[in-house]
Amino acid sequence: ADIQVFAPATVANVVCGFDVLGFAVNEPGDEVVMRMTGKPGITISKITGDNGRLPMDPAKNTVSVSVQHYLKSIGRTDIGLDIELHKKMPIGSGLGSSSASTVAGLYAIKTLLGDESDVAGLLPFAMKGEEMACGHGHADNVAPALMGGFVLIRSYEPLDVVRLPHPEGLYCAIIFPDVDVPTREARQIIRKNIQMKDAVTQWGNIAGLVSGLFLNDIDLIGRSMKDILVEPVRSMLIPDFYKMREMAMEMGAVSFGISGSGPSVFAFTRDEDTAHRITQKLQQHLTGIKIGSNIYVS
Ligand code: HSE
Repeated sequence: ADIQVFAPATVANVVCGFDVLGFAVNEPGDEVVMRMTGKPGITISKITGDNGRLPMDPAKNTVSVSVQHYLKSIGRTDIGLDIELHKKMPIGSGLGSSSASTVAGLYAIKTLLGDESDVAGLLPFAMKGEEMACGHGHADNVAPALMGGFVLIRSYEPLDVVRLPHPEGLYCAIIFPDVDVPTREARQIIRKNIQMKDAVTQWGNIAGLVSGLFLNDIDLIGRSMKDILVEPVRSMLIPDFYKMREMAMEMGAVSFGISGSGPSVFAFTRDEDTAHRITQKLQQHLTGIKIGSNIYVS
């Protein structure tokens, strides 16, 4: 039997929380169709929506490689699988495109095998996929893609992931400037050392954002979403970044920043209509969307 799994796009970092905060959105997302074959090993029979950019070789594709790691961990490398991958968002857009596919693939195999353990157990395999995609196994895309909503990576070693609440009336507009920013490169240009006074500013903001999520305080969320460590460097790769911010804020955005490693940018708003107006005004491509969809089998 086939199984078809959708996993959502995600916004990593959420401006101030580099590598530790992320949330899922209701659309877009990627789809994986998986079926058991009689023959041991994994094949990829079809990839759509990637303009031919992703490897069909199962040893090089993040989805099959993560699934293989999972199978190895449960001692089931005897299994035969075929994977179809349907990309519904641009690659290298800063929306967690590789994460969505990887997570959908892992969820598909877990479901096919009737593995009823907690989904969070798939995270280390999904992180392997991220490591392969960009050289670093961060979890701030894969964790929200897998668990839905807002997620905090409290610690990487040991892995400690915490689901966070978010205000009902918080919306997100995403704008995709059509340039390519590979995460691998966007990670290489950031500073390795920071000053204590900058660290103080940054952790004050992260704590403020998380408090705002718990307190349903959208003003606090907005004024906490500032990043003095990463954004000043990465914004240089995004055409008109500061102009877009000014426009979005003028139109009533609560906050504005880079989604993951960019080039996509996002704005929080207090209503869906403002989110739509901002995406339309700032650009085309994607529409205003809601926070917090979950992974699902369709
Ligand atoms: N936290 C990661 C980064 C997310 O900013 O490099 C990449 O999508």
